[in-house]
Parts: sequence; C-alpha cells; structure tokens
Amino acid sequence: MKPKILVSCGKLNFPDDIADMIKPLAEIVYVTGEYSNELKDASGIIAGIEPINQAFLEKAPKLGIVSRHGVGYDSVDFETCTKRGIFVTHTPDVLSDAVADLTWALILGWYRKIPQADKYTREDWGKKQKGFPFGWDMPAKTLGLLGLGRIGAEVVKRGVGFRVKMIYHDVVRRQDFEEKYGITYVSFEELLKTSDIVSIHVPLIPLTQGMIGREQFLKMKKTALIVNTSRGPVINQKELTEALEQKLIAGAALDVYEVEPIPLGEKLLRLDNILVTPHIASATWETRHRMGERCAESVKAYLEGKRPPFVIPEQRNFKL
Ligand code: DGY
Repeated sequence: MKPKILVSCGKLNFPDDIADMIKPLAEIVYVTGEYSNELKDASGIIAGIEPINQAFLEKAPKLGIVSRHGVGYDSVDFETCTKRGIFVTHTPDVLSDAVADLTWALILGWYRKIPQADKYTREDWGKKQKGFPFGWDMPAKTLGLLGLGRIGAEVVKRGVGFRVKMIYHDVVRRQDFEEKYGITYVSFEELLKTSDIVSIHVPLIPLTQGMIGREQFLKMKKTALIVNTSRGPVINQKELTEALEQKLIAGAALDVYEVEPIPLGEKLLRLDNILVTPHIASATWETRHRMGERCAESVKAYLEGKRPPFVIPEQRNFKL
C-alpha cells in the first residue's frame, strides 16, 4: 500500500499537475473541514493554516512530514514535530514578490482612496455634485518597516521607485541592504514616532505576538497608517480598533487578522478608515503554483528517503 499524503490547503493551491509529482509514490487525499479521522494512517500532510498542535500530532502516529503551504509556520508546533521525528517544511522566497506587491497595493489603495474612488465613479461622478476623494503623495513620506526579512526586502526595493524615505527595525541589522537602498536602521521607538506608514513584516513568534497595541499607537503619528500583511496577532486587534475609533492613528490597511476569517460582526469592519483584504497576499496563480511545487518537492524527497529541501530553519540540524 502506498503511503497516504493528506492535502488540506485545497485543490486550487495543490492542483492535479503538482499532485502528479508525488502520485507515483503516494496516495493523495484532499481533506476539508475537520479531518482528524484521516490522521491515523497519514504519512504526510500538505497543510493550510489550521493549527497542527500536540493534540493533532497525537492522532497521527505515522506522520513523517508536515509541509506548510506558505512561508509562515506559526500554526505548526514544530518543537513537538521535531521531538516526534517529523520534518516541517515551508515555502520561502517564492511568495516574497506577491506579498510585497500586495503590501504596496494596500499602501497605495489607502493613500489614494481607491475603494472610495471606485464607489464614487459608480455612484456619484455622473451626478456632478460631490467632489473627488483626494489622497496624498508618496514621495518624502517615511515608510517604517518592522522586519527586514525576505518580504520586507522586496517592499524596500519597490519603495525606491515611490521615492519614500525608508527606515526599519529588526533584531538583525542588514548593513549591505542599508547602503544599497538608502534605508536607515532605527530603534522600535523611533520607528513608531517618525513613520508615516508602519508596515509589519515580522513572523508571528512569542516575541512579536501583540507587539503593537495601545502603548505603541500612542507613540505613532496621528496621521500614521499601519499596514499588516504578516500575521494578525502581531497587532492587538481590540486595541487597534480603539485606536482607529479614537483617531490615535489615521488608518489601517490589513490582510491578516487575529481570527480568520474575521467574523462579520467584528467592530473593526465597520470603521471607515480601514482598507481590508482576506489574507490574499500570496494569492496569485503563479505564486500559489510555485508554493505548491515547493510542497511537492519536499514531500517527494521525504518519500524517497531524502532530506526535504525546504525544512524550516529550526530544523537545520534535524536528521542530518
Ligand atoms: C504564508 O505564506 O504564510 C501566507 O500567509 C499564506 O499562508
């Protein structure tokens, strides 16, 4: 009997032509919703964003690989995986362009009031009564990046063209990048105080969870925009909602939320100083296809008894 590989990220993300890469070696089973009854004989999983925690892993005694369809693996308890001898892989690099593009789409969409302009064109322009929704210029604004990893770096490259002043804060300093793109390293405090736009590009880890809340909003400019294409829980969402209501900052452009899908009744969604998208930063046909390929390459290598190519950094020395 062939080993069983579950796919929970859906057929759009892992279509037939990619599944074909591993079909000679495994039985592929697409799962949706609650799928714990499929775990007992599964050898691997190509996972969406559902929590792969201890309880999940206990139901999967044969599991040898968790291949996250995405770069972020905060949803996977990788320490327990390592203890149980399970590889954890992800899909770095191939989505950095798409996420950086959406980050800029959100910045420009909010700055140039694209949703309002769309509505105005459909409903008001022809009536010649109301004025246009005016936006603001990009050049000379200060863009503060919280996190300068692969995605932050792509945001910076695009920022050169928009002639924004760029500053960043991270645990690691990238001097090569600073010189090449004219970007300045600042403290977290300085970043909050001086940025017109704060854009979040840190992974969700205990250190970054809730790192932006009321205390930080109070330090930011009243005209500031906060942008998040990373993970929702980096921002305290309740405190963000209050900060936006109280006009501590001017707005938020968000692709990610504390709970996803964000509940329709959520107060945040009723505010008019936000621009929101449904966690689509990597959702382009080309990018999702490349992400699927990376998952297939990792699972294929595992099934062939080799070390998968895209294991997470925390498993650098695992099963060498
Ligand atoms: C990622 O790559 O982690 C994206 O958020 C999609 O899951």
